[in-house]
Amino acid sequence: MSIPISTTPLPRKGKIIQDDWKKEQYIATVTAFNKKGKKFGYIYMFKNTDDVQKLISQLNKHIFVASFLILFSILIFIFFLSKALTKPLITMKEATKKLSKGDFSVTLPKPSNDELGELSHSIQTLANDLNYLKQERNEFLASISHELRTPLTYINGYADIARRKNLDEQDRVQYLDIIQEESQRVSSLLKELFNLAKLDQNTFSINKEKVNLSNFFRSIYERVLPAFKNKGIDLVLDCPNNIFIDIDPIRFEQVLINLLDNSLKYSNETSTTFIKGSELNGVVQITIKDQGIGIPPADLPHIFDRLYRVDKSRSRATGGFGLGLAIVNQLVEAHGGEITVKSQVGEGTCFTIIIKQ
Ligand SMILES: Nc1ncnc2c1ncn2[C@@H]1O[C@H](COP(=O)(O)OP(=O)(O)OP(=O)(O)O)[C@@H](O)[C@H]1O
Ligand SMILES: [Mg+2]
Repeated sequence: MSIPISTTPLPRKGKIIQDDWKKEQYIATVTAFNKKGKKFGYIYMFKNTDDVQKLISQLNKHIFVASFLILFSILIFIFFLSKALTKPLITMKEATKKLSKGDFSVTLPKPSNDELGELSHSIQTLANDLNYLKQERNEFLASISHELRTPLTYINGYADIARRKNLDEQDRVQYLDIIQEESQRVSSLLKELFNLAKLDQNTFSINKEKVNLSNFFRSIYERVLPAFKNKGIDLVLDCPNNIFIDIDPIRFEQVLINLLDNSLKYSNETSTTFIKGSELNGVVQITIKDQGIGIPPADLPHIFDRLYRVDKSRSRATGGFGLGLAIVNQLVEAHGGEITVKSQVGEGTCFTIIIKQ
């Protein structure tokens, strides 16, 4: 057996002697040992490299299999992860495609708590809002066509009767009066709708100025008082003299006239309507409170909707279009304010407007 000795000095502390033992048949080590403090000799140890080579090649195999398995698992993991990430994105893409085609019946899966979840939630909210707007628009158009159809039916019917030859003059004039009234109703409905459309598009301007609230109330009070007196309803004004408010007096007058018109229409005689103004920490509060018929709780959330009336079958003489409060709401919002309502059937209704100064 030949042992190739390295050219470098031999390691004498049990280390391998050969430079490249993997190519050799044996691994050799040498260890010096002393006796009584003096160098006594060397121990040479040899080990067949076959076993070691076998172990190494087995280990290599294991490492290779393990690496392969790890790589395979990583690929599978990436595949499923990318699927999990892209699936909601694909669903959202399909949903937005549907939305752009006008189909708002979109249902996205329950969103997770990450950015994708937020995006999915936003798309769902957008779809719901668009769906709601679509339904509202359809209902609005149905209400308008109904509102227009009724007076037009009257006009048509009475025009037929008025045309009869054997009709006496007094009846003819009466029918013509009805035709005129109904056509005026149609034209005022169209005017109101046009006003609302303008409010919607913000094509109207609000010209704010500082107004003394008490004086402002007084001028409106004097204007509406005769109508209230006529119906036997008391009108009470309560507002300190020192409140100033930034409003467009012409537009805001429309707000109060509409609310007072409702109080007048929906209150019985011997009741009282209150107009009240107050200010606290720069917030002006205006209330119009009546002791009228009140609004049922189920109708309360809808009264600011266009063409919404609690009593759909109200007589044509007293019935409005159900547009007054929609206009009031838009005008108050345009002033940066907020209007709320409280009502109790049989006891009365209270509208409160809040405007920050
Ligand atoms: N003060 C009130 N008391 C009782 N019900 C009210 C009062 N104000 C409003 N309402 C109810 O709310 C509905 C909507 O009011 P809104 O002012 O928008 O319409 P309207 O008075 O019927 O018609 P318009 O104001 O267009 O002439 C009314 O039809 C009525 O049923
Ligand atoms: Mg009204």
